[in-house]
Amino acid sequence: MSGYPGGDLKSIPFKNLTGFEIDTLPHAFNLTDGHAFRSWSPKESAVISRASDLFENIDRRSQSRLEREYIADFLALGKQTNDVSSVAYLMCFTASMAFEVVANWLRLKRWTVTLIEPAFDNLADIFRRHEIPLHSFADELLEAAPEVFEAHIRQIEDRCICLVTPNNPTGLTLSETNLRLLAKFCRDTGKLLILDNCFRAYLPREQVCDQYRILIESGADFVMVEDTGKTWPTAEIKAPFFAVSKAHDFFQQIYDIYTDFLLHISPVGVKLVHQFIRLSQDDDLEKIREVVRVNRQALYRNLKGTFLTPCEKEFASVAWLRIDAPISGPELKQMLDEHGVYVLAGSHFYWSDHSRGDGYIRVALTRDADVFAQAAERLGRICRRFMIKKDVRRELVEQGFSMIAAKDWVIPPDLTPYWENLRSDWHVLELDHHLKNGATFRRRRYGRYFWSPGENILRSLPNEAYFQPEDQNGYAGGVQRAFAPLLPESVENPFLLELVRCSFGQLPLDDVRAKQNWEVRVHQIRIVATPSEVGEPAPEGIHQDGTDFLTLHLVRRENVKGAQSTIYDLNRRPLFQYTMSEVMDSFILEDPRIMHGVTPVVPADGCSPATRDLLGIDFIFNPTLEAPAP
Ligand SMILES: [Fe+2]
Repeated sequence: MSGYPGGDLKSIPFKNLTGFEIDTLPHAFNLTDGHAFRSWSPKESAVISRASDLFENIDRRSQSRLEREYIADFLALGKQTNDVSSVAYLMCFTASMAFEVVANWLRLKRWTVTLIEPAFDNLADIFRRHEIPLHSFADELLEAAPEVFEAHIRQIEDRCICLVTPNNPTGLTLSETNLRLLAKFCRDTGKLLILDNCFRAYLPREQVCDQYRILIESGADFVMVEDTGKTWPTAEIKAPFFAVSKAHDFFQQIYDIYTDFLLHISPVGVKLVHQFIRLSQDDDLEKIREVVRVNRQALYRNLKGTFLTPCEKEFASVAWLRIDAPISGPELKQMLDEHGVYVLAGSHFYWSDHSRGDGYIRVALTRDADVFAQAAERLGRICRRFMIKKDVRRELVEQGFSMIAAKDWVIPPDLTPYWENLRSDWHVLELDHHLKNGATFRRRRYGRYFWSPGENILRSLPNEAYFQPEDQNGYAGGVQRAFAPLLPESVENPFLLELVRCSFGQLPLDDVRAKQNWEVRVHQIRIVATPSEVGEPAPEGIHQDGTDFLTLHLVRRENVKGAQSTIYDLNRRPLFQYTMSEVMDSFILEDPRIMHGVTPVVPADGCSPATRDLLGIDFIFNPTLEAPAP
C-alpha cells in the first residue's frame, strides 16, 4: 500500500481525463469517454419516438413513487436486493455528484480514504479537493486469493475504503468471497465502505453477486454508487443514485449535505431511463453486451501485429491496452490524435503516480459498430507503422535538418525481422569502383523507386547509373557511377518501404509536392577502415547531395573511432555536430538549405577493421516521372 499526500491541492493535475474527453467530442473516431453513445435499436428508437409522452402527467406528488419503482427495477436487473428498511436511495444527476456529497461528509469527519488504483481520476480529484488524505489500493487485490486479500485489508488504517467494481479501466472485480471478508472487516473496525458499481451491467451474469444483501447482512456501513450513463444510450439523460445504509446515524448527515445540491432530479429522465431498463429486462442486457462484444472483436483483430496488448477483462466496456514499445501513453495518444483517432492515455488513471500508467492507453468500446470498426482499423494501421517521437517537420522547417536518435523511433514488432534481414545485406555489398587511387574502403548497393504520395504507389525503378554534378561532388561528380543493385529480396523489404513512407511523411511540403511524383534513391553503404587505410564516409568533404531531401540511418558501427557528422549552413559554418552510434540514429536533411560532412573512420582498437554501415535515402521531386508497370 503506497501512501499519498492526498490533501495536497497542488498535486491535482490541471487537466483531467474528462477534460481530454471534452476535447475530443467534435471528432468522429472518439474512443475516449466510456459513456454509451451509439445508435438505438428498433425497440430503443420506439422508446425515443414516444419521448414527448414522458412530459405528460407529470405530478410531483408521484416523484417518490416514480423513483421507488425505477430503483426497484434497476436493482432487480442488477440482481441486487432492494431493502428500503435498511437502505436509503438518493437520486442524483451524475455518479460523481454522489462522490462529491460523500467527500463533503468525509472531510467534516476528518476521515481518510483508501482508494482503488488505477481509477478514473475524478475520484481522486474529488477527494483531494476536500483535502482528504488518500492511500492506494491496488486493483489486482480485488480478485486475489482470500487469504492474500484479507491480510492486505487488515493493514488498512483509513476509516473509509472506496473501490470500483468492476474496475475502470481493468474490469477487475471484487469476488463474492472477498466482498464478504471486506464487509466483515468494515463492520468489525467501524469503517465505511464505498462501492462504485457503474460498470456492473457488463459483468457476466454468473459472476454477479448480491452485494446489497451481503452488505446489509454484514451490518457494515456502506455507500453504493449506481449509474446508467455507461450502460444505456440515453444521450446523457441519466438516472444515477447512491444507496446509503441506514443502520447508523451517518445517513442523516449525508442526507443533509445531499439536500444542499438538489430537490429532486428530473422525472422525465427517470421515466426515460426506466424504459431502457425495461428493454434490458426483456433481453437480460443482451443488447448492451453485444455492442461491446462486437467492438472488442474488431479491436483485437486490428491490434494483431501491433505493440498493443489488451489487459482488461474481456467483458469490460473499455479496453486497457499495454504498450509494448518504447513510447509512452501520452506520446502514443498524441500520435493517434494527429491521425484522428482519440483514446485516453493511461497515465491519469494512476492517481498516486502517473508514471505507473504511462505504458497504457484506454479505448472505449460503447460505440456504433461501423464507426468503431473504422476507428479500430485506423488505430491498428497507425500502430503497425513507424512512429517518431519528436516533431521532425517543425525542426526541418526551422533549421533544415532533424536528428532522430534511435530511441525516438518506434518500430512495430511486425517489421523488426525485416529490419534484421535488411541489415544482413551490408555483409554482401559490392566494392565501389569509383574511388580514387584504387581505394577499397567503401562498398555499396543502390536502388531507385517511383513514389507517388498522392496515389500511395511506391514501386521500384530499373537500376541506372548514379550521377552527381561536379559542383556538388568534387570527388566523384561529373561521372556516371554504376553501383551494384539492391538485392531482389531487399527491393520489396517491408521495413525499407515503410521507412521511405515514414520519412517522406515528415517532410514539410506544399500541397503540390505532397501529392505529385518523386524519385527515391536508396543507398546501402559500408565504410571499412583498416590500420593501413582510413575510411572516408564522405571523401568529397563538406558537401550537398543535390537532392530535395535525404535521410541517413546508422545500420551498424563496429570498432569505429571518428565518423562525427556535422551540419553546416551554406557558408560552411557548423550548425550541429553528432556522432551516430546507435542503430537507427538518423538524420533527415533538406539538402538545398544546408551542407553536411562526416569525419574519417579509423579502427578504435588500432589493429582490427572498423565497420560503419549506413542507409541513405534521397527524395527528389520529379512530377514528370512516370510510374513503372507493376
Ligand atoms: Fe552526402
